Amino acid sequence: MVKKAVIPAAGYGTRNLPITKVLPKEMFPVAGRPAIDYIVREAVEAGIEEILIIISRSKNMVMDYFDRSLELEMFLSQAEKSHLIPLLETPKVHIQFIRQSYAKGLGDAVCLAERFAGNEPFAVLLPDLLFINETANALQKTIAVYNEYKESVIGVKAVKEEDLKLYGVIKGTELAEGLYDITDIIEKPQTSPPSNLAVMGRYVFTPEIFPFLNETLPGIGNEIQLTDAIKKMLTKYEAKAQVLEMDCFDLGKNEEYMTLLNYMFKKK
Ligand code: G1P
Repeated sequence: MVKKAVIPAAGYGTRNLPITKVLPKEMFPVAGRPAIDYIVREAVEAGIEEILIIISRSKNMVMDYFDRSLELEMFLSQAEKSHLIPLLETPKVHIQFIRQSYAKGLGDAVCLAERFAGNEPFAVLLPDLLFINETANALQKTIAVYNEYKESVIGVKAVKEEDLKLYGVIKGTELAEGLYDITDIIEKPQTSPPSNLAVMGRYVFTPEIFPFLNETLPGIGNEIQLTDAIKKMLTKYEAKAQVLEMDCFDLGKNEEYMTLLNYMFKKK
């Protein structure tokens, strides 16, 4: 059973500057809730009971959001606006925070979760990718594959050839429709991507990833890349990729963020 999840939210959000100088990308509003609220809800819906959010010095706002505001609750009841108090409720799940003091990359951030994960499998959700879907849950789909094979699983999606250089890209052997045995993985291939299947922000790892993460040196962008650790793990352990056939919105891309807002607006 996968009961723990890690949400790395310590990046600078460079694709969204200048707003991310003061407003973390995870706090971008999506129909009145911050993006990270949807991520936490996706995790809870998928059966996660404990979450570790990795933040940085400038992301205390994320911590504040998941905390209670007794002052505001008191104000609302005194101002005869108690009906608004339920809006302040955050998802019912145990959330812990840890600070990454230096943005050394996604691999380094996930490394900080080693004690939290202990000897258990754990999920990783990248909070800039929102899978908004009424009937399917991206993490749940990834966890279902873990439950069957008890191996690490990566959520992937087919993307356009010209965009592959922005993602981790897998190479695999198809086992069943949309399910692959991963044979290789490359972070942001600048030439000859091994397939059109890009890593799409949802993972389940067995704790076997940690020794590989611990010895991973900075890679592309001078950052410690999670993908590089996965690549090394593949030399010893099997891993699966599951195609996530559902709409996904990347908050780092203004156009997709606008499309998401539009979609949420129409849904109301
Ligand atoms: C990260 C990962 C990459 C993955 C992408 C989207 O890259 O390193 O492998 O494809 O997220 O999930 P980033 O977008 O942080 O550069």
